[in-house]
Amino acid sequence: MTIEDAQKPAPIIRPATVADLPACAAIINDYLDQTEWLPRTKSHEEVAGIFTAELLQKRTVLVADAGGEIAAYVSVADGFLYAIYIAPGYRRSGLGKILLDELKRQYPAQLELTVFELNEAARRFYEREGFHEVPERRDDKTEEGVPTLFMRWRSAA
Ligand SMILES: CC(C)(COP(=O)(O)OP(=O)(O)OC[C@H]1O[C@@H](n2cnc3c(N)ncnc32)[C@H](O)[C@@H]1OP(=O)(O)O)[C@@H](O)C(=O)NCCC(=O)NCCS
Repeated sequence: MTIEDAQKPAPIIRPATVADLPACAAIINDYLDQTEWLPRTKSHEEVAGIFTAELLQKRTVLVADAGGEIAAYVSVADGFLYAIYIAPGYRRSGLGKILLDELKRQYPAQLELTVFELNEAARRFYEREGFHEVPERRDDKTEEGVPTLFMRWRSAA
């Protein structure tokens, strides 16, 4: 299914509330369950435990709300993108770009992030959206045992 499906309302982007946090945790927990190349280093409960009211004070968390269903979330602070996760039924429909464009508006100078080297879909997405790798900030010693690349977007202005 895609967001063009008649039954699904177009998602609106809004700041997350505490009530949205279990849905955000479920999106990332499902992703971890379904991604074979990424070893799980935190239990479902530990992941859910990250999604607290304190998180909303430390970071800007935005959700894509599709008629009450949380289709995606992003988490950012100081121009560093900590997370962007789209629920499977909403991927490749432009929602990631909509969320990233909103973050570019909030951080017009630059945005930075890390991405697992094996996450080819996300790397292609970030490259398409103007991010470039900063090779010297590659990390070969992650907790997960999968190297991460550091990527940066800078406004053309
Ligand atoms: C990566 C992600 C955030 C992109 O969001 P999205 O809403 O799917 O992206 P958009 O629809 O705006 O853009 C899609 C583009 O991203 C790239 N892309 C996304 N998924 C892809 C895949 N499975 N294979 C190849 N390219 C892919 C392509 O360039 C694609 O363009 P195309 O569909 O015209 O080929 C989303 O797919 C996702 O949440 N993935 C799982 C979680 C994840 O990996 N998060 C990033 C952690 S660093």
